[in-house]
Amino acid sequence: MTIKESTREQWSSRLIFILAATGSAVGLGNIWKFPYITGENGGGAFVLVYLLCISLIGIPIMMAEIMLGRRGRRNPVDTMRLLAAESQRSPRWAWLGWIGILAGILIMSFYSVIAGWTVDYVYEAAAGHFVGLTAETASAKFKGLLNEPWQLLFLHSLFSFMTAFVVARGVKAGLEKAVVILMPALFLLLTILVGYAATTGYFMQSLDFLFKADFSKLTANSILTALGHAFFTLSLGMGAIMMYGSYMPNNASIAKTTLIIALMDTLVALMAGMAMFPLVFANGLEVGSGPGLLFITLPIAFGEIFAGSFFGTLFFILVVFAAWTSSISLIEPGTAYLTENTRLKRSTAAYLISFIAWLLGVAVVLSFNTWSFSFPFAGTVKTDGLFDLLDILTSTFMLPLGGLAIAIFAGWVMRTEFAFQELNLPNKWFNNWYFTIRWISPALVILLFLHSLGVF
Ligand code: TRP
Repeated sequence: MTIKESTREQWSSRLIFILAATGSAVGLGNIWKFPYITGENGGGAFVLVYLLCISLIGIPIMMAEIMLGRRGRRNPVDTMRLLAAESQRSPRWAWLGWIGILAGILIMSFYSVIAGWTVDYVYEAAAGHFVGLTAETASAKFKGLLNEPWQLLFLHSLFSFMTAFVVARGVKAGLEKAVVILMPALFLLLTILVGYAATTGYFMQSLDFLFKADFSKLTANSILTALGHAFFTLSLGMGAIMMYGSYMPNNASIAKTTLIIALMDTLVALMAGMAMFPLVFANGLEVGSGPGLLFITLPIAFGEIFAGSFFGTLFFILVVFAAWTSSISLIEPGTAYLTENTRLKRSTAAYLISFIAWLLGVAVVLSFNTWSFSFPFAGTVKTDGLFDLLDILTSTFMLPLGGLAIAIFAGWVMRTEFAFQELNLPNKWFNNWYFTIRWISPALVILLFLHSLGVF
């Protein structure tokens, strides 16, 4: 069976693809999540495991996922079914696409709640409320926000709507515009913040914290968290990057673009860490203070620097945009599935998927204030509220297992010649990739899982 070239939309150029995929990868995962989980997991050793996961697992699997998407040129469910048929394999591989769509909706439900916090902080900065903040008042301000369910609900709804609105308009009109200016601007502003952090006198201590590996601080859970975050930050394992690959022009090199995306993503995360930890140390804050880290540290800095309200507003606007260019990729697979398989219009499909994620998000909002619970998950991991549960379920389990399935499909199920055609690499490089995707990436994912679950 051959695959018909469909006449659907494509990114206008390779550069646009790189920017869009980077837009998906760079988001709250880099600026909000990476610093706080690094803090919670003891720093350097965690960062090292994370970087190893990015290079040995994330990059090869990203190439595989883009490759599958571009060859299938459809939503993840149909792409998997089609590619399995092309290699005379079971149509049940379509399940991978279904699980991806579900993972996207689950992640979106809490992603948009957190993104709502960043929207609020745009206002706080603009209103000059950062001026004169101390460690105590900054923490109190953040806790105050969490205790306002109606406000959180409003912000969550606003962000959900923003996401649905862009996805409803489709790839070109919706996504391309947002990404071309905003990504470079974010990068520039982060550079300024790192520069400021360097003046606090705690920069060296932060570099030590981030890059000096002390393996005694590394628990089994930290390893699994690092693995999961490598998938989360690169938007891997649930079909988002597969979707983006499906809009990629045929002549663009998958390997090169993957490397660029992974590099930029990692750079942004490390810069976010370098901007925040000096402030943590300078103000005597807790490194392990959790999801509030971004919202407590940076406002203190903006309260002190020259034109801080201006830069603070700009910074949080850019974080909102970074989150926005990521969230659209979370609901894109579900939207594309509905658009390509039902009579629904793209816009209706986008609003429908967003609505489902929004509903679950309402429960997430409540889990930050009135509704709290905690229970053990998968025997070892204790979760603390619905946000934690969804985060762990998706990042730590669904994404790595989805990625594992993608690796197995690309390395063992799909015919070698198809992968070879699609990647279009010199023999030597293809062989390196092929060996990694068949053996190294799957073996590492499995080993890290078994280790963390206490098997050895
Ligand atoms: N990578 C994004 C971030 O770091 C989040 C994200 C967007 C994502 N699309 C995804 C995570 C798909 C997992 C899967 O903020």
